[in-house]
Amino acid sequence: MRRVIRLGVNIDHVATLRQARRGRAPDLLAAAHAAVLGGADQITVHLREDRRHVQDDDVRRLKASLSVDLNLEMAATPEMTAVALEVRPTIACLVPEKRAELTTEGGLDVSGNLDRLRETTDALRAGGVAVSLFVDPDERSILAAGEVGVRAVELHTGRYARAAGEEERLREFFALKQAARTAHELGLRVHAGHGLDYGNVWRVAALPEVEELNIGFAIVARAVFTGLSAAVRQMRDEMLRARDVAERGQ
Ligand code: PXP
Repeated sequence: MRRVIRLGVNIDHVATLRQARRGRAPDLLAAAHAAVLGGADQITVHLREDRRHVQDDDVRRLKASLSVDLNLEMAATPEMTAVALEVRPTIACLVPEKRAELTTEGGLDVSGNLDRLRETTDALRAGGVAVSLFVDPDERSILAAGEVGVRAVELHTGRYARAAGEEERLREFFALKQAARTAHELGLRVHAGHGLDYGNVWRVAALPEVEELNIGFAIVARAVFTGLSAAVRQMRDEMLRARDVAERGQ
């Protein structure tokens, strides 16, 4: 059986550029449509508590105009839950959030926050919003995620992406591989993302359990030179090629 892999394009950094001048350009909706034209299966945005890039109204307008899924990354707080229940994205990815961080630094401490994550997940599911949890690729986090009642886990690929050398990269990759297997065995869908780029995406895209990658920075950075649709198409091609090679090798 051929297992599909989807690409969620995170357009936070298009909003980062717009917020640099607090104006209207570059237009986030136009960026989303360009990403869809390039083959994005989903648009992903992170509405941060400090609203440093994406704004509440962006999320509303994206939901109203998109023909593909909308993935809202958010902290598991009452404020963000209220926004998600109003906007009703296809899926909400719960992430830990620290105000001073440049980007989401680590996965959720699932076992340490079981009650809060269950409560948020129950509220979102009751409102018709599926939930995924952004977790580090370790057994403890995956097993705890299995107890929350979510549809999916998104495996944090940051340590793999930042690895200093091949030995460390392989160690981090095997952690992802094992975590993907465990999550799949628990009946969770497996997504992954963070720090993935055109050079490192292939190993993760080749994992048969991984159904979706959410990628932002590398695509937006390349788009400066190629345009967004082309940058998305190139990433999709890399993913599909890796998946094809892996399947033919099996
Ligand atoms: N997935 C999650 C949960 C994230 O927080 C981020 C960063 O916003 C990404 C994926 C995308 O990471 P990057 O921009 O490094 O591709």
